[in-house]
Amino acid sequence: MEVLKNKKTLQDFIERQKEMGKKIGFAPTMGALHNGHLSLYKKAKEENDLVISSIFVNPTQFNNAEDLEKYPRDINRDILILKNSDLVDAVYIPEVVDIYPEKAESLHYDFDGLENEMEGKSRPGHFDGVGTVVEELFRQVKPDNAYFGEKDFQQLAIIKKMVEKKKLPVKIHGVSIYRAENGLALSSRNQRLHENRREASKIIYETLKKVNDWFRVITIPEIKERVKDIFESQQGMQLEYFLIADEDSLKETDFFYKDRNFRAFIVVVVDGVRLIDNMHLD
Ligand code: PAJ
Repeated sequence: MEVLKNKKTLQDFIERQKEMGKKIGFAPTMGALHNGHLSLYKKAKEENDLVISSIFVNPTQFNNAEDLEKYPRDINRDILILKNSDLVDAVYIPEVVDIYPEKAESLHYDFDGLENEMEGKSRPGHFDGVGTVVEELFRQVKPDNAYFGEKDFQQLAIIKKMVEKKKLPVKIHGVSIYRAENGLALSSRNQRLHENRREASKIIYETLKKVNDWFRVITIPEIKERVKDIFESQQGMQLEYFLIADEDSLKETDFFYKDRNFRAFIVVVVDGVRLIDNMHLD
């Protein structure tokens, strides 16, 4: 596996691969790799000649300095995981100047309103930061296909919107949520939870499954009430939001419509750790 530590080495590498006519699959990350990330590489490997990942803790998508500071970083461990996985051909680990040659600042994006829902409300400016770094990474890596997890469903929708609006020459693929055995969606943040709290957090997935059972049986306001009750009885867990939204517009709904796809979205804070999850409703 090639470890590419700056823009120039990446560019040389990409040029060689393009000359050989290789089809490139790309999955960007912020490191602290786990099996959720590996599931992206697995899909990329099946559909491309070459898999590239990147590890870059993007400063412009963090809402506060403390969160950025606290983000887990262990580059040697990550490189080892990538090597052992045998799924990734090259990893790009840029410095801030490789992505932001002048100032680490976001561009401003219009994602047709997708950016104003859910995470956009709780994390102002976050999606401008994500758009800026992903667009720049696409320009440098020049992938044919790029892979994003449904774990961050709104992020996936926003990247698809950016590619469509800017006509970027890359196809975006969503990858389903990879869960621990108890159902908890894998996340780098789970490391910050004690084992017994990780176990207790399976209630998030269990609740989403119940919501799916209740869907179209009772009303959405009733579902919301039940979800609220479940988390009120959980010690040390705060339900930040729970809602059901249209999968395309991401707009919250209190009514079901025929012929539309819906998804439940939830954010729970467990011992100060913010856990997000979602589920398609059928
Ligand atoms: P990061 O949180 O490292 O996630 C990298 C990719 O892995 C994202 O597409 C995310 O949705 C996916 N992912 C994380 N946990 C997953 C799980 N349990 N199952 C499936 N996929 C999972 O998301 C980011 O980084 C950044 O915002 C980034 C896109 C790299 C831009 O900086």
